[in-house]
Amino acid sequence: MMADSTQPASFAFDTESNAKIPTILAKYPPGKQASAVLPLLDLAQRQMGRTTGSAWVPRVAMDEVARVLGMAPIRVYEVATFYLMFNTEPVGKYHLQLCTTTPCWLRGSDDVVQACRKVTGIKGWKETSADGLFTMSEVECVGACVNAPILQVNDDFYEDMDAASTEKLLEALKRGEVPPPGSVKGRQTSAPEGGPITLTTLTFNPAE
Ligand code: FES
Repeated sequence: MMADSTQPASFAFDTESNAKIPTILAKYPPGKQASAVLPLLDLAQRQMGRTTGSAWVPRVAMDEVARVLGMAPIRVYEVATFYLMFNTEPVGKYHLQLCTTTPCWLRGSDDVVQACRKVTGIKGWKETSADGLFTMSEVECVGACVNAPILQVNDDFYEDMDAASTEKLLEALKRGEVPPPGSVKGRQTSAPEGGPITLTTLTFNPAE
């Protein structure tokens, strides 16, 4: 597993991450600190993103999580490789996570995929663009089908996407701009286009 030259020789939680560890561990009963494996892997991945520009979890970071939690490293490897949210290989600055599950597919996710390929030059899944900016991953339903199709960029959801809005978004990211996430059609959360059409006269009276 992961025996390649991209693996760094060492990893240590930095000051910013270390400041968060006691708060994370305090959420679990004494002796059950292994339950913190998910948030600590997430902490390691975010530190890598913050310090190297690539949010991933190298094996030495998994080893450090194991050491902090008093777990066998293999148990941390099992968790890190099971969940899609943890990247076990380097990713670009912008991790494009394309939902192609049925609702998004019916609403045009194929067009979003093609637009991503066109702008980034990426041919296949899990590949990173030559400029190091983008990695494309295919993901299952991300739970926002109501505004399908969804393109997740790092932590942000861009919704109601099509080919044109995808190209526009990626070109903005290339320029160093980060457009606001949400519906690119300007929908209010998941309300119909043009605004809500129900409960429009309802007023909330806490005294009633
Ligand atoms: S199918 Fe894409 S968000 Fe649910």
